[in-house]
Amino acid sequence: MNGLKAEHSIQPRPGAMARWLVVTVLAAAVTGGRCEPLVRVTNAPHNSLVMDADTLHFIHPKGEAHVRWGLTLPEGAEGSPCGEGDSCLDFSVAKVVVTTEDHCQKVAWTSPVDGGLAELRDCVLLEGHWYGGGQQARQPWPLEKHPRKETAFVTSDMLQDRVHLYGGVSEAYWVSSQGVAVRVEEQTPLFLRVPDTNGDFKADELCLSARHERPFAAAPGSPLTLTYFLCSADDVRKVHETTFPKFFSLPEGTPDSRMMQHPIWSTWAEYSAQVNDSRVLDFARGVSEHGFNNSQVEIDDNWETCYGEAVFSPDRFPDPRAMVDQLHSEGFRVTLWVHPFINNNCPSFTFADQQGYLAKDASGTTQLTHWWNGKEAGLVDFTNAEAAAWWAQRLLDLQQQTGMDSFKFDAGESSWLPENYTLQVDERFWPNIYSTKYMETVTQFGNMIEARVGHKTQHFPVFIRMLDKDSTWNYDNGLKTLVSSLLHSGLLGYPFVLPDMIGGNAYGGRPSKELFVRWAQANAFMPALQFSVLPWEYDEEVTELCREVTRLHSEYTPLLLSLAQEATISVAPMMRPTWWLCPTLEECLTADQQFLVGDDLLVAPVVRYINAHTLDVVLPPGEWQQAGTGTVTSGPTTVTVANITLNTLVYFTRVMV
Ligand SMILES: *[C@@H]1O[C@H](CO)[C@@H](O)[C@H](O)[C@H]1NC(C)=O
Ligand SMILES: *[C@@H]1O[C@H](CO)[C@@H](O)[C@H](O)[C@H]1NC(C)=O
Ligand SMILES: *[C@@H]1O[C@H](CO)[C@@H](O)[C@H](O)[C@H]1NC(C)=O
Ligand SMILES: *[C@@H]1O[C@H](CO)[C@@H](O)[C@H](O)[C@H]1NC(C)=O
Repeated sequence: MNGLKAEHSIQPRPGAMARWLVVTVLAAAVTGGRCEPLVRVTNAPHNSLVMDADTLHFIHPKGEAHVRWGLTLPEGAEGSPCGEGDSCLDFSVAKVVVTTEDHCQKVAWTSPVDGGLAELRDCVLLEGHWYGGGQQARQPWPLEKHPRKETAFVTSDMLQDRVHLYGGVSEAYWVSSQGVAVRVEEQTPLFLRVPDTNGDFKADELCLSARHERPFAAAPGSPLTLTYFLCSADDVRKVHETTFPKFFSLPEGTPDSRMMQHPIWSTWAEYSAQVNDSRVLDFARGVSEHGFNNSQVEIDDNWETCYGEAVFSPDRFPDPRAMVDQLHSEGFRVTLWVHPFINNNCPSFTFADQQGYLAKDASGTTQLTHWWNGKEAGLVDFTNAEAAAWWAQRLLDLQQQTGMDSFKFDAGESSWLPENYTLQVDERFWPNIYSTKYMETVTQFGNMIEARVGHKTQHFPVFIRMLDKDSTWNYDNGLKTLVSSLLHSGLLGYPFVLPDMIGGNAYGGRPSKELFVRWAQANAFMPALQFSVLPWEYDEEVTELCREVTRLHSEYTPLLLSLAQEATISVAPMMRPTWWLCPTLEECLTADQQFLVGDDLLVAPVVRYINAHTLDVVLPPGEWQQAGTGTVTSGPTTVTVANITLNTLVYFTRVMV
């Protein structure tokens, strides 16, 4: 099965070899023998991996990748052959084993507990265009657009530190236009750096470092490991299609179809923490009076007696059952915002603390965390089955008492764990498994929920929301990150994307009329719609333009539902990057403000600030008919759509392949 075995010979350590090469470069004919590769593993017909003094060459018939390897080995370390995998080099302070697996090669570094290295580091050069990895506030597409400082690769609330943190939907999985995929094994305590090494403001490398450092935990006596796979196929689409299923699952079902058809109406931007019974009813009436449909009205934020108590405040919600009944009778379903925190002034905190349900340190003492609605709070430990069951039961009871239809599950990132924490599962998976376990708990509530984290949880048939967007036009978490966030989630296997609120969260004031309308239009063909800033607070023109968006969305729901179904049996996301149809064309690989809905509908939202009269759209191969005009254009090409006005939605239907 495997091709050639490695060629073994004792060699000086990479750095030393490189220097030796430099000083003798003119004189040294390659006949010296010392420049033979240190490792060569062939995985015919897929690829071959050759390690020379300082570079790992991963080569396949249509592309290649290069990795600077062993960057933390000491000066002069010599590698000697060891009989593991298909090839193995032992540098005594660390060893590397290369093994072929399917269309991949697995590179596994291990450093012993005694006398080993404090860090292992290999850097993959970002040749071509790259996609995947961590969710980002400035979500780039492709990802080399933004260099990143080093951070632990853990699910995080990235809005707490936009420079360093990755978001709650993150997987150590990347694909490139060179037809190469990289997957870092879950057990690696991964610190990721994506540096700009040549000063052109673009990232040049994906540096994978392993260290036994917080927030990761080392099992007592466990050696340090850095294990990653390099996989290959003809192009970016093929390598994704063949590699993704090796490491992840597909959704086992589809989300609630009414959530896919009609907008969610969240009270958040309108009332934030000042929400109450009569306001929810007014809010819902406004929706009906203005001729909108609903999938549900969402009571977002401050409804509890105390954050985490799971009891309605009797002052603000004197009779939740009557309120829910009323909303039901008016044709609304009702959902409730919940989170995994319990502030320490809540009666439940004391109970949960006594029961050991909250995240605690190694000595068993509850550790506090702080979050946006509590300076001192316990965090329910979902890796403790009893704690998870208790937390879920409180919500089931609440549903029983009030008739509440479902929930919006907020947070769940592992970055909310206290500094000193222990979990009730295998240490090698800390802390990311916290998010996985949170999702296991919340998905018991069925497919009508929404959540915002994803880590090895692709199999759940639920909407995953984009993190709170800012009400701006820009690339820093504004409108220009809507399409890139959509594509990023889909690539990581979370196709049921719930874009955040139309117009953003309005934290710094309501978005302008133009921004709000463009945001609604950009959402029209995405898997779901969510309003919170209310269209009728602008004017009748905005309200009607938004109704047009919801009508169009509803009209296309049969297509969305069939694509959702397709996503349960195929790696193809509902919303596809342009390169899905032209994986080798530069224009397709870099188009970051347009997306395919299935293979036959191309959507290009207008995301440019003020008076955008024209829009350039990259058309993949095939004949594309522009909606509204009937003009048919042959791709691949770039067309300039002219005469754009505030009511223009730009999309094309493929009329011939
Ligand atoms: C809800 O808040 C509004 C505005 O402050 C107030 O007029 C109304 O009486 C409140 N209703 C309840 C049930 O507290
Ligand atoms: C975590 O534990 C370390 C070592 O025991 C200690 O120095 C530190 O203060 C602890 N942090 C907190 C927030 O308690
Ligand atoms: C409301 O939903 C119906 C289908 O149930 C649809 O025909 C209609 O266009 C929708 N109206 C709006 C304003 O979205
Ligand atoms: C733009 O609109 C004007 C006026 O309606 C029309 O004359 C012109 O042909 C249009 N241009 C394009 C490229 O559609």
